[in-house]
Amino acid sequence: NDYKEIIVEYKGKRQNVALVRLHRPKALNALCASLIAELTHALASFDKNPDIGCIVLTGSEKAFAAGADIKEMQNLTYDYTYKSDFLANWEFVHRTKTPIIAAINGYALGGGCEIAMSCDILYAGDNAKFGQPEISIGTIPGGGGSQRLTKAVGKSLAMEMILTGKPIDAQEAERKGLVSKVFPKEVLVDEAIKTAEVIANQSKMAARMCKQAVQTSFNVGLDEGLKYERTIFHSTFAVHDRKEGMTAFVEKRKPNYEDK
Ligand code: HXC
Repeated sequence: NDYKEIIVEYKGKRQNVALVRLHRPKALNALCASLIAELTHALASFDKNPDIGCIVLTGSEKAFAAGADIKEMQNLTYDYTYKSDFLANWEFVHRTKTPIIAAINGYALGGGCEIAMSCDILYAGDNAKFGQPEISIGTIPGGGGSQRLTKAVGKSLAMEMILTGKPIDAQEAERKGLVSKVFPKEVLVDEAIKTAEVIANQSKMAARMCKQAVQTSFNVGLDEGLKYERTIFHSTFAVHDRKEGMTAFVEKRKPNYEDK
């Protein structure tokens, strides 16, 4: 592939982990339209690729991403943003079926924090900084920050971060549940790849169904969510990999998943 603003590599013993690095070093990975288009294209291609079972999304050691590209947004008008439904395509990260781990070193600000929060698992390097500084440039989070940050850390801290624009560090992000683990920045990406390999070696259908079930918990009430979960659970009994997984356990051997 000939991406210019992202770098894609394949990792893991079975090369079943896709590693995507955001790569606009001069702009601290500010998320311009062309970068988002490349990211969207890459994520869609992984969903279609039967060899890929998990994705790791990372930036550089200095910045995961310092936000949407302010220079690109500076002269936009309401007319344009409304008619083009500006930022609607950012939703693709959340819509990707393959599980995504965000490995965040350095700045994850504004849209950077929002893209990270759209991923399924968040790991931080010990130098990470998470913030929604949009208020400082006269706007508000537009990539899901007001919703996802609030669900992750609760009302008071989300309000504090969004109203002051001040970031929190990796340790606080872990304490508040925004990220599930913190690693020294040098080993962060390798650790994310290790977890990604564990996921990629599971049944891909089961992994996608797990993701779908957990995502649903953010959108519906408990009764609806439980019904949805049970429906998906029942549907695994129509899937080869469910039979194979249980049979392998009973026969005390490793399962051979076929993604069907
Ligand atoms: C465009 C950016 C950028 C951004 C940094 N750069 N962030 N360009 N959009 N969001 C560019 C700078 O202009 C500069 O290029 C280069 O990257 C290095 O940045 P510096 O500011 O010189 O680096 P430093 O002094 O180390 O400060 C780092 C920083 C600061 C604290 C992260 O860059 C910063 O505050 N950036 C903006 C953070 C922000 O407000 N993010 C939210 C954006 S709004 P040049 O060529 O000029 O030297 C947003 C909307 C979300 O995300 C809603 C939609 C999803």
